[in-house]
Amino acid sequence: MAKKRVEKIGILGGTFDPIHNGHLKYAKEAADRYGLDRVFFIPTGNPPHKVTYLVTAAKRRLAMVKAATECDSRFETKSYEVDREGETYTVETLREIKKDYPDAELYYLIGTDVLMNLINWKESAEVFKMTSFICASRDSDFGKEHEDMLKTLRSAGCRIEMMDFEPLEISSTQIREMFRDPDEAKKYLPEKVFKMIKKDKIYGRNVFPLSDDDIQRDLRDFLKKDRYEHSIRVMEEAVRIAKIVGADEAKCRTAGLVHDCGKNLCAEQLKWLGFTGEPTEEELNDGYNTRLLHAQTGVIIAKERYGIEDPEILGAIRHHITGSPGMDIVSCVIFLADYTEKGREGEKFDRARRLLEEEGIYSAMLCECEETIKFVLQKGERLDVETIRTRNWLITEIEREKAAKAKSN
Ligand SMILES: [Fe+2]
Ligand SMILES: [Fe+2]
Repeated sequence: MAKKRVEKIGILGGTFDPIHNGHLKYAKEAADRYGLDRVFFIPTGNPPHKVTYLVTAAKRRLAMVKAATECDSRFETKSYEVDREGETYTVETLREIKKDYPDAELYYLIGTDVLMNLINWKESAEVFKMTSFICASRDSDFGKEHEDMLKTLRSAGCRIEMMDFEPLEISSTQIREMFRDPDEAKKYLPEKVFKMIKKDKIYGRNVFPLSDDDIQRDLRDFLKKDRYEHSIRVMEEAVRIAKIVGADEAKCRTAGLVHDCGKNLCAEQLKWLGFTGEPTEEELNDGYNTRLLHAQTGVIIAKERYGIEDPEILGAIRHHITGSPGMDIVSCVIFLADYTEKGREGEKFDRARRLLEEEGIYSAMLCECEETIKFVLQKGERLDVETIRTRNWLITEIEREKAAKAKSN
């Protein structure tokens, strides 16, 4: 009986932001030369450390890779890393592949930059057991340091083949830059990918600050669906309230849109932004609650990811949960809009909406403050001192307004 042939699977991982002809050329040549039956293209998930930089959302990069890999029947797109939350390591991906394809031989495709760092990979000994490597390099580029590293790796049990390869002189970074003039990038990309990028304006929009449309497009991928939809409703409500109270509509619109942009961060992202460790005793006494954190992370993300510098918009993000005594009108509008957006149903929300029409924004905000305090107390959680200070401030302001009115009558 003929011996069953072992299937050979190549693996090409990367950010693929975007995938380009250079990646495809490498995969094709490796498959041809080493007789690979398939090559898996595995885009990385949303890299946590890049939260404040616009790495294209994982699902968009995945869609581009899917379109690009249609060109060769051996190519397949795999979402192993996109589907995983938080930081991902190759060792975990390999375990998943081994589970799905227990009999296959794996060949991980790398370049010399990765070669030099391979020894530091998490659980490298495990990795070396699970897969072989193919390293593409121009002979002329392969120096003494590469030679030495190769020896070190091989003695550590790493099976690695060197493949002489003439790479396409192009990188994803260069392609992203080129999208200021898209036609220049065209020759480096599969046609479908080029069209996707152009249609969805995936690149070439990194002119700070981003427009509301570009921010909205990014938030759709960056936030969870219900959070995104809430943000859109807050944006609409903020514009409505701005009209009533005579606030700057454009600022309120942007602030409403981004107010929750710091909300859906994972532990690694929080760590990277510097929000680590346990709260101090003082913070606990002041009413520390993890729910409040996104007012702070939101300010950082609005600045770094969207290029927002306007102090009124940043202030509105900062104060949208607890309010703050003396807050400006944009902050007031967002504070209230977060509460009265049309997705909130119930008597207490209607009361705030009514108060806005009948008595003004401070009365509506006071109603919101008091309901929030009740809500927090009922849940038995810590009450943030800033909410109480805001309530006191609102009472003072309302009394002042009443006194001024009485005087003018
Ligand atoms: Fe919020
Ligand atoms: Fe919100």
